[in-house]
Amino acid sequence: MNKQEFAHRRKHLMQLMGDSGVAILPAAPMRLRNRDSEYHYRPDSDFYYLTGFPEPEAVAVLIPGRKHGEYVLFCRERNPDMETWTGKMAGQEGAVADYGADDSFPIDDIDDILPGMLENKQRVYYTMGTHPDFDQRLIGWVNSLRKQSRAGIHTPGEFVSLDHLLHDMRLIKSGKEIKAMQTAARISARAHCAAMQACKPGMKEYEIEATLMHSFMQQGARFPAYNSIVGGGANGCTLHYTDNNAVLKDGDLLLIDAGAEYEYYASDITRTFPVNGKYSTAQRAVYELVLEAQHAAIEQVRPGKHWNEPHEAAVEVLTDGLLKLGILKGTKKTAIKNESYKPYYMHRTGHWLGMDVHDVGDYKVADEWRVFEPGMVLTVEPGLYLPATHKRLAKKWWNIGIRIEDDVLVTKTGCEVLTSGVPKSPDDVEALMAG
Ligand code: GLY
Ligand code: MN
Ligand code: MN
Repeated sequence: MNKQEFAHRRKHLMQLMGDSGVAILPAAPMRLRNRDSEYHYRPDSDFYYLTGFPEPEAVAVLIPGRKHGEYVLFCRERNPDMETWTGKMAGQEGAVADYGADDSFPIDDIDDILPGMLENKQRVYYTMGTHPDFDQRLIGWVNSLRKQSRAGIHTPGEFVSLDHLLHDMRLIKSGKEIKAMQTAARISARAHCAAMQACKPGMKEYEIEATLMHSFMQQGARFPAYNSIVGGGANGCTLHYTDNNAVLKDGDLLLIDAGAEYEYYASDITRTFPVNGKYSTAQRAVYELVLEAQHAAIEQVRPGKHWNEPHEAAVEVLTDGLLKLGILKGTKKTAIKNESYKPYYMHRTGHWLGMDVHDVGDYKVADEWRVFEPGMVLTVEPGLYLPATHKRLAKKWWNIGIRIEDDVLVTKTGCEVLTSGVPKSPDDVEALMAG
């Protein structure tokens, strides 16, 4: 993303806020992995979406109508000693020159400067609860203003969650965002192909994870968008399995749910394939059912359809199929009504996708399912999970866990599957593995 994109986002948000509001966004804190060793720093998506600023210990303030500049960034002062250890810092000069701030102050001076920016404003846009320490500081600044009311200082009377405005903006992707997401999707699709080609019985799940990570990085994506799920056999029935340390067995399926993050945008792909390169009859029967459900769900993604329609389509196909396979009994109508499919399909058919893998954006508006609009991106990911621990499940189905997940962009006329670069028909998967 270039500077103009971030500037455009800030301008748009300030137009929505109006001159009587101030928005405050703190950067996420660093997190420790052990003692004094930190996790790699990844800015909070809301903060980064508006600033493009990659450092911790920063606070962005948007003050529409402020004479000396509407965008103020508090950040760390440059510190040559610290730069020797951890690299270059932007400092106040860099915040203005490289990151488009109109004005920048040292983060250590925020207690003295920020309260004045709230004076005589009516509304503070801020997301409570994400950074509890910062919540307390903000309350302190507001209280300090209240004490000055006799001096004629007016304290903001309304605290409004920033989410409504900002997350609605993030939900509809711009051309540049779509490009980044297409790249993330392409990188991940290639990595899944590499994983299919590398897989052999006897390998450890994490060896396949290594293939994925190697492929992501080789293609310019340094990090995965979330912890990769690489689950063989019964592990494929654990929805968010991330131990990834079991041996892959001949005759088992392998479920991989992994996606690269590229320029802060996520991709999210699941494929399920046979460890030995050939689906068994039972595995293929369940696989084809999940695939049919996924096709039916993707059919429902287009402007005018609502959020729940893909899920409803998937549930209908899966329920019908479970009845035909003899896993469920009764009629389709009652099985759907009673949610009899839920022991085997217990999650939703997708989620919004963007800078966060489970991205922001409301799924309902005024209690009605949200209607699809061009620029929205979502996943479509039906599955079926048949662990051996399930009572009354015939042995031939034991430990079949299957999910098929693609990333889908809503276009003006329908949708575009961004992750079509990795095969999903069982014949195509087998052909790739054999090749
Ligand atoms: N990887 C998490 C999900 O598919 O939602
Ligand atoms: Mn996933
Ligand atoms: Mn997903």
